[in-house]
Amino acid sequence: MSYIAVSAPGKCILFGEHAVVYGQPAVAVALDQRITVKIQVSQTGTWLLDGNRLNMNRNPHICALIEKLWPAEMGAPPLSIHIESSIPRSSGLGSSAALSVAFAGALRLARGRWITKHGSIEKRHWAEGFGSHITTTNPYDSSHGFCVDLPIGELFHVSGAMAVDDDENAILAHGVEAAAQNGRASPIDSSTCSHGEIVVISDIIESELTHFYERKLTTPEGNIIWQIHGVELSDQPDEVYLVIGNTGINAPTGKQVAKVARLIKQHPEKIEVIETIGKIARRGIKALMRGDFDAVGRTMSENQLMLKSIGMSSPELDALIKAATPSSLGAKLTGAGGGGCMVALTRNPQQTCDAIELAGGRTLISKLGSHGFNIETSEISTIWMKT
Ligand code: PMV
Repeated sequence: MSYIAVSAPGKCILFGEHAVVYGQPAVAVALDQRITVKIQVSQTGTWLLDGNRLNMNRNPHICALIEKLWPAEMGAPPLSIHIESSIPRSSGLGSSAALSVAFAGALRLARGRWITKHGSIEKRHWAEGFGSHITTTNPYDSSHGFCVDLPIGELFHVSGAMAVDDDENAILAHGVEAAAQNGRASPIDSSTCSHGEIVVISDIIESELTHFYERKLTTPEGNIIWQIHGVELSDQPDEVYLVIGNTGINAPTGKQVAKVARLIKQHPEKIEVIETIGKIARRGIKALMRGDFDAVGRTMSENQLMLKSIGMSSPELDALIKAATPSSLGAKLTGAGGGGCMVALTRNPQQTCDAIELAGGRTLISKLGSHGFNIETSEISTIWMKT
């Protein structure tokens, strides 16, 4: 039976974690490690995940996306979902964002898109969908994303790759991540897993970068606006690699973010560290854009010193970073810290991996930026559409 297969990459933060929560810029790169999602109509009449009945409570991201894009009350049939992933889970490498991006894109492919003008796929002609430029639908509430109220007879249907949109996949993934994290989630993971390559988010439009769009989210602390950008490298860096070292220790992001908030409340002068991380990130972006990877590495190590000074590292992370340092250009924790992963930029990936493994870490090697959301099947037939 025909199926739809798509994939999305994991991500790793090079600069600016934690400071991004306070509006400073952060830089993330898409990894070679990917998640693949396959969907087809379920033969059992119930939702299936890897052959077992889908447990709605254990899979909040999947369920939130089904509610938005595949409403049973409109006649969308239950699907069988199959997931394969080389992204370690709960390690700060974007596994849940990659799953959300891939599943959102798979559902869009499976239903295609209604538009208001024949031959046009521009957002202003979408009759249904979610996106940063669409003010009539809200990816953060339970809307089904219909932008216009015209009868189906006056609309045109597009299917296949034409119907899919990276911004829609990213904004839906951000919406479900925010819902799963009590309304607090920066769009760095969802944007990087959707667009791929290198993504910068900041509270201002960074003039030297390619500005994609603005994201707004109402959080428990108030309204936050992020500007999402892409970074274009002057040359593809063939000779440098990222080596990820996983401590295997689970440190929930929310707990780490709360720890920084407490520290700043008790010691308001620590906000200077956050501002310094922002300055370091801006220097890192410039070095990346010039292709000066020695400077990128040095800047990563500087970022690590700042993260350590606000208590975000751990003895296990420190040990892996110390082991990686002699063979790399720079190394730091990546993501929330306290456990999870570190990342080293290196010209000697195997040597760096060996050193990290000797110090007790599990390793992955990736290029510096990989492609974003991808359709893996060539023949796409619409499974269901709103009629
Ligand atoms: O979820 P992680 O481990 O990739 O880390 C997220 C980065 C933080 O800056 C710590 C939190 C955030 O929402 O940006």
